Amino acid sequence: MFIIAPSILSADFTRLGEEVVNVIESGADWIHFDVMDNHYVPNLTIGPLVCAAIRPLTQATIDVHLMVKPVDQMILAFAKAGANLITFHPEASAHIDRSLALIRENGCQAGLVFNPATPLDYLDYVMDKIDVVLLMSVNPGFGGQQFIASTLLKLKAARAKLEAYERQSGRKILLQVDGGVKVENIAEIARAGADAFVAGSAIYGASKASDPHRYDSIIAALRAELVNR
Ligand code: DX5
Ligand code: ZN
Repeated sequence: MFIIAPSILSADFTRLGEEVVNVIESGADWIHFDVMDNHYVPNLTIGPLVCAAIRPLTQATIDVHLMVKPVDQMILAFAKAGANLITFHPEASAHIDRSLALIRENGCQAGLVFNPATPLDYLDYVMDKIDVVLLMSVNPGFGGQQFIASTLLKLKAARAKLEAYERQSGRKILLQVDGGVKVENIAEIARAGADAFVAGSAIYGASKASDPHRYDSIIAALRAELVNR
């Protein structure tokens, strides 16, 4: 019932294919794919070409987190490159409803991402077009940052909104969190209402050896915390 989504931002890019396969074989659920454009965020990462390259290596959901502005052209490119889920920041789209519809029209699940200071109000009129709500628990742009504590309150508020919607529509929307998630805090984050957890440095930083099972223990440790939350 909980989803663990390692962010490949912290993977060894000289061996990216192995890093994707190993983390899924070690028990992770999704591959979180961080796309940055040096415009919406002050960093530059990977694009649709890399998504298409890893697509044949795994059946796992490729969860594309767009930190780019504008978004529509990249939605089309990532849908074509094999993404399963595409999320974007409302500040980065001039027409949020249209961008959400575009994601679904191209066969993917859709989500909105909220920066630490972005209000949840953007959800109010588009709930029916959303499969995932992603709350940033760091300011986007870099891996390895500290979890921002106020995200716990925001998770509770988002969980309440999503539960009210689920009661009325019968449809479940996942609540995802991204940034600074670790073994030490994942239980508390789950108690605040999250059901999908992005972790970059905590997972890929856990071990550097070339053992294909080296992520088993870190993923098991995260899951154990979720079970005992
Ligand atoms: C930050 C990215 C995150 C990041 C998470 O802009 O969206 O997905 O890679 O990394 P950690 O888990 O190291 O905070
Ligand atoms: Zn991300």
